[in-house]
Amino acid sequence: MKLLITGASGFVGWNAVRYFVDRGFYVQPTFHSLSHYLQNHTERVRLPVQLSVQDGDAVAEVVSRFQPNVILHAAALARPQAAHPPDILHQVNVLGTQHVARAASAVNAHLIFLSTDFVYPSSAGLVNEESLVDVRSAGYARSKLEAEREVKLHANRWTIIRPTNMFGIGTHSSNCFTQFLDRKWEAKESAPVFSDQTRSFLYVDDLLSAAEHIIARGEAQSETYVCGGSEALTRASFALRYATFNGIDPSFCNVMESDQLAGYIGGSSDIRLDTAKLRGLGWKPRPLEEAFEDMRQKGVRENPS
Ligand SMILES: NC(=O)c1ccc[n+]([C@@H]2O[C@H](COP(=O)([O-])OP(=O)(O)OC[C@H]3O[C@@H](n4cnc5c(N)ncnc54)[C@H](OP(=O)(O)O)[C@@H]3O)[C@@H](O)[C@H]2O)c1
Repeated sequence: MKLLITGASGFVGWNAVRYFVDRGFYVQPTFHSLSHYLQNHTERVRLPVQLSVQDGDAVAEVVSRFQPNVILHAAALARPQAAHPPDILHQVNVLGTQHVARAASAVNAHLIFLSTDFVYPSSAGLVNEESLVDVRSAGYARSKLEAEREVKLHANRWTIIRPTNMFGIGTHSSNCFTQFLDRKWEAKESAPVFSDQTRSFLYVDDLLSAAEHIIARGEAQSETYVCGGSEALTRASFALRYATFNGIDPSFCNVMESDQLAGYIGGSSDIRLDTAKLRGLGWKPRPLEEAFEDMRQKGVRENPS
């Protein structure tokens, strides 16, 4: 099975290379600006290719050269709170996805697109694939909704996954909550953790296992799945569980409401994911402490930099 991963230098893509190589896939990673070393270099990983998804011809060329069976499209401007100019967000997240979708169709590859649970209203509560999305959303969330439309319009075999906030091991610049906590605690600083943002925190390997289950179905059925972890928690509760697991003094979690942090632009939110549809494929997210233990084992083995 040949898998092309866009955004392989990012948090999800970096983990995806390891995950799928370990499972016997032949992987072509692509990156944009950061040529991170890719762990587990084996004959099943091709040299990473530099690729801007904004360049439609380049995307078509790289995809056509590798002839993947599956494309995991993880490249994006992926930080919801970052203030990207709207035209740049559109070019990377929307047009970039269109380019990847067209290229996937041209080689009849199955496109797996990573969207987000931010497509739901911030106080949506428990949601599934049938729940109403937030048509008034702006910025990152809007770009992801528009990108979903590009996937449906231009890919002939596609799956959309809407993951929630993820955690796991990664590189030093990783876009994930546990890396944020680790960085703070390594610097002997307390981490601001919000008591008014609730999510079904997802271990990145559980997202990748969901993608693996979807790939194993064979022909894509053009489906959308929400993907979240085994329990819904506030950021503060999650951080306290992570601190306890790692023997960190709980006082290093500075529990507050989101409007108490100067300069923070996201507000309170409550989005919990009902993953019955994904579970119907035989997928199951692991319990939180099991995920933390897995991270501990992998962190020792791979020591990412
Ligand atoms: N992390 C989460 O908790 C989370 C939650 C829900 C959904 N998601 C979604 O999952 C996907 C992966 O997120 P992530 O956390 O891995 O993000 P990330 O760590 O910020 O990585 C983003 C990746 O996109 C690449 N990229 C940025 N601009 C590009 C461009 N113009 N052309 C090609 N590649 C470009 C980056 O390359 P360089 O670094 O080389 O510049 C990097 O590899 C995204 O679609 C995100 O929206 C993430």
